[in-house]
Amino acid sequence: MGYGLLKGKRGVIFGALDDDSIATQVAKKAMEEGAEIVLTNAPVAFRFGKIQALANDLGVEAIPADATSVEDLQNLFTQALEILGGKIDFVLHSIGMSLNIRKNKPYFDLNYDYMQKTYDISAISFHKMMQVAYKQDALSDWGSIVALTYIAADRTFPFYGEMAEAKAILESYARSFGYHLGVNKKIRVNTVSQSPTLTKAGSAVKGFKEFFEYSDKMSPLGNANAEACGDYCVTLFSDLTKMVTMQNLYHDGGFSKMGMNPGIMTGETRWVS
Ligand SMILES: NC(=O)c1ccc[n+]([C@@H]2O[C@H](COP(=O)([O-])OP(=O)(O)OC[C@H]3O[C@@H](n4cnc5c(N)ncnc54)[C@H](O)[C@@H]3O)[C@@H](O)[C@H]2O)c1
Repeated sequence: MGYGLLKGKRGVIFGALDDDSIATQVAKKAMEEGAEIVLTNAPVAFRFGKIQALANDLGVEAIPADATSVEDLQNLFTQALEILGGKIDFVLHSIGMSLNIRKNKPYFDLNYDYMQKTYDISAISFHKMMQVAYKQDALSDWGSIVALTYIAADRTFPFYGEMAEAKAILESYARSFGYHLGVNKKIRVNTVSQSPTLTKAGSAVKGFKEFFEYSDKMSPLGNANAEACGDYCVTLFSDLTKMVTMQNLYHDGGFSKMGMNPGIMTGETRWVS
């Protein structure tokens, strides 16, 4: 049972592919809190993913839109306004994909065409989404926009390839667009830096399972899962966080503030003092 934190609010959720997707958990939590939402994903996800089944289960509409296409995004926001019956109060960007990672290309042998594609899908889509919504005046005053990111934007995680730079660009868009949306519409823009999470995108990274376990041991609270991320995003969409903007917010069980954890060296449990 929720707290009614998003009662009367309307949201657009990008990136729910299947039950494991972080966006799916955010969508479920937002609805539990009283929001009305539409889901959206790339047309290919409608052919191969479970997005339509997910939308049917939740009783919401799902609109196909390639987030790299301005035309698709224009159509998406036009439809979302109509379906939801008013301006949009919150948006989640939960999109990431690297062709270099998918094709096992290491960081010192990147394919630059793939790299451009990675940036377009994983980062530039965030700017496009905000620009289209702003130009269409689709967003409510005091709305909230959140994108998911990872700590590799800031520190070196060798397996993360050019996604590290994609996330750095994404986080920078939150600050830069956060200014313009803030002064013009009182809309806040933040990124949530999430723990490694067992999803399709996460598992595409080589050695992900081992790293997932390392991160779990390193974090005093353990890894944050997708459901907890849903809870956190709900607070950021709610009116309880109206003055938080242009921030990169860690949702990682404390991982980002750890230097070393003795438990990892000794192989004992993480609460060794
Ligand atoms: N899983 C992790 O360990 C982890 C950790 C931190 C941050 N994140 C971030 O969380 C977000 C969601 O990833 P996830 O782990 O839930 O995996 P996921 O694979 O379930 O979600 C990624 C989504 O991006 C969508 N997508 C890809 N190309 C697209 C396009 N052109 N247009 C529209 N949508 C497109 C996919 O269809 C999919 O729904 C990503 O930004 C990811 O980088 C994930």
